[in-house]
Amino acid sequence: MTSTRSRLDERLHQFEELRAETHMWDAVIDEVDGRRIRVGDHWLIDWASCNYLGFDLDPEIIEAVGVTVREWGTHPGWSRMLGSPRLYPEIEEQLAELLHAPDTLVLPTISQIHLAVIPVLAAQGTVLIERLAHKTIYDGCVHARALGATLHRFHTGDLTELEDQLRAAVNAPRLVCMDGVNSMTGEVPDLAAYIRLCRQYDATLYVDDAHGFGVIGERRADETSPYGARGNSIVRHLGESYDNVVLVGGFSKAYSSLLAFLAVPTSLKDLLKVAAPTYLYSGPSPTASLASVLAGLRVNAVRGDRLRGELYRMTKRVLDHVRALGVVTLNHDDTPIIELPIAADESLVDVSHELWARGQFVTLAPYPGVPKDKVGFRIQVTAAHTDEQVDSLIAMISDFAAAGTLRRTEEQGV
Ligand SMILES: Cc1ncc(COP(=O)(O)O)c(C=O)c1O
Repeated sequence: MTSTRSRLDERLHQFEELRAETHMWDAVIDEVDGRRIRVGDHWLIDWASCNYLGFDLDPEIIEAVGVTVREWGTHPGWSRMLGSPRLYPEIEEQLAELLHAPDTLVLPTISQIHLAVIPVLAAQGTVLIERLAHKTIYDGCVHARALGATLHRFHTGDLTELEDQLRAAVNAPRLVCMDGVNSMTGEVPDLAAYIRLCRQYDATLYVDDAHGFGVIGERRADETSPYGARGNSIVRHLGESYDNVVLVGGFSKAYSSLLAFLAVPTSLKDLLKVAAPTYLYSGPSPTASLASVLAGLRVNAVRGDRLRGELYRMTKRVLDHVRALGVVTLNHDDTPIIELPIAADESLVDVSHELWARGQFVTLAPYPGVPKDKVGFRIQVTAAHTDEQVDSLIAMISDFAAAGTLRRTEEQGV
């Protein structure tokens, strides 16, 4: 109890310090102009949003939202148990087709899905969670443990450890929980190896691909970039099927909308309709979100691959530059999430002041949210950025590298 308390205190202290001393924490945004934002009288380039495809600014999608809200009102007044506007089955059918999944179920957020669904899948069995999995997955697993499941953690990428744990897991059902494209490092896991192990040990792989959906997809001869085509997420990107796999994803990143989904067999969907509290009792997503998802799916089909091609091109410009400078990035897979750790003797607060002065708005990554050698900042490139904005980012990274602000590969030992 004491150590839990002191860990919490340490986290609070770090976060309070950032909140008090930097502008890039708890900021109030006064205006948006493309990928520029205004805070007070200060304009910055926004590298902190996860609007990867630029759908938040897309005129066709914005127009469609108004039309649908006039038709359906601002908000469906029912929990999904009671009734769902026709927009819901339309989304679920189109999404199942996009993912090549047997069926899909949509609920407001991924966090709600983890809390509601992991305990149902785990029952009184065994849950194995990767250590770097997103906090919201961890919360779902802790809830499952409170309801009777056994919980163990395995090191990210350590398939031998996972296999030992699967072999030792006598209590079925067995559930392995992990991130798809990692939200902090941008790494794409070797999901095929995890899927093989789960099938071998009769376990279900539960994978949260919040950051892969809309960005990576099936590989094709006519793909516009190594991200693949259609943005239909990590399972299709690796050419895998959904046997023994539950894929979770969300529209709140690439599709700029408040909605999330599970790709599941219809039998499991039907079970969740009576067992998942969020289906039974939560308020639904607003009509604007449902409308922007449907419009986003249309735009994705027509222009998505062109946007992903641009997203890849601009991301690669930044990454090639970072790698040529010999500074560390945790990104080895060219996804648009670029984390740059700072040098050991640098202060994150000072670095944030410099970023602010240079008009660059980023996500700060403080300890203990990340390990001490990964403290730094994160950039997310989107298709709505311009090459001029990438130029200014690259110039700033060069200056930071010259000043010794960024962690160098020799310091990291990579
Ligand atoms: C991997 C991952 N899972 C879940 C979430 C939370 O998603 P939601 O806002 O839909 O609850 C995030 C948000 O950043 C995320 O990065």
